[in-house]
Amino acid sequence: MPLRSVLRGVGKYLPGEPVSNDELAQRVDTSDAWITERTGIKQRYFAQPHESCAFMGAAAARAALSRAGIDAAQVDGIILATATPDQAFPATAVHVQAALGVHQGFAFDVAAACSGFIYGLSIADAMIRAGQAKTILLIGSEVYSRILNWQDRGTCVLFGDGAGAIVLTAETTDSGGPGVLSTHIHADGRLGDILYVDGAVGQPDKPGHLVMNGREVFRHAVAKLAGAVDEVLASNQLNYKDIDWLVPHQANRRIIDAIGKRLGLGAEQVVVTVDQHANTSAASIPLALAEAVEDGRIKPGHLVLMEALGGGLTWGSALVRM
Ligand code: UT7
Repeated sequence: MPLRSVLRGVGKYLPGEPVSNDELAQRVDTSDAWITERTGIKQRYFAQPHESCAFMGAAAARAALSRAGIDAAQVDGIILATATPDQAFPATAVHVQAALGVHQGFAFDVAAACSGFIYGLSIADAMIRAGQAKTILLIGSEVYSRILNWQDRGTCVLFGDGAGAIVLTAETTDSGGPGVLSTHIHADGRLGDILYVDGAVGQPDKPGHLVMNGREVFRHAVAKLAGAVDEVLASNQLNYKDIDWLVPHQANRRIIDAIGKRLGLGAEQVVVTVDQHANTSAASIPLALAEAVEDGRIKPGHLVLMEALGGGLTWGSALVRM
């Protein structure tokens, strides 16, 4: 029987209070009608000063551990996907480790922008199957509100803050049993200039703001994500009809609908949280997963397809039996 990474618990953390499109329109030249029509976003959450990437990541991790019934002392490693770490180093993952009272194993961050959760899942799954760890906490945590350019209405209305986490454990299951079936990750650095942050910790007097050519990213997202979902199904000799749920990266309702349509899925099989959370980058998939598991839509045995695309460009897909 194969050794697999089984998803044992999911948790989430949303900071502050929701900020509606109308509230945002009081300080940015925009409207609820424009944001809703172009993106499907209705509100987002922005972190308060004390709600750092590590703070939110630790809160989501505690919720995931509690749901899994696993003690922090059993965690062999923490992988945290983020584009908005608290510091260049140490990694935000080690701050989470300290906050959780975990004193063993490894902790590191993954930087793959909005694809960070799929990249992290790919690494965690490979480590578990190689026997390097038995229990891994995988977290996506983001505070994009701190890198948004509030003078650029084309980007500042699109993003929000939050964190999501999952616990993965090593288990031997039969081929129809639970676990990560496969992950597929890609990057094309030639497209690094269509979605990036124009500064960094290492650049004096330039903390950096998010810059995006929305139309170009949109064009690549639809094409590359379509390829990524075909790839993950083909590699598992599965058909569109086998999928119970699509849990996509939550950037834009129009992109989500296009991929759902390509998979022949009904709207009721696609988990959508972009309306509530906006784009929370690496946190968006675990946040969406947590919502759908908590409200009972996603159940044990269901086959879940995840996909994401982000700055890099980076993109990828994963298939998980719950
Ligand atoms: O998570 C990482 C991946 N990111 C994505 O997947 C995002 C992909 N891109 C998108 O989702 C879309 O391209 C956007 C939502 C960002 C933009 O939608 P669009 O349909 O491509 O609009 P646009 O950028 O072409 O702008 C259309 C118009 C422009 O006005 P003119 O030049 O046509 O008069 C903009 O100035 O909308 C205007 N506009 C706004 N108006 C009101 C841009 N932003 C706003 C705004 N409020 N916030």
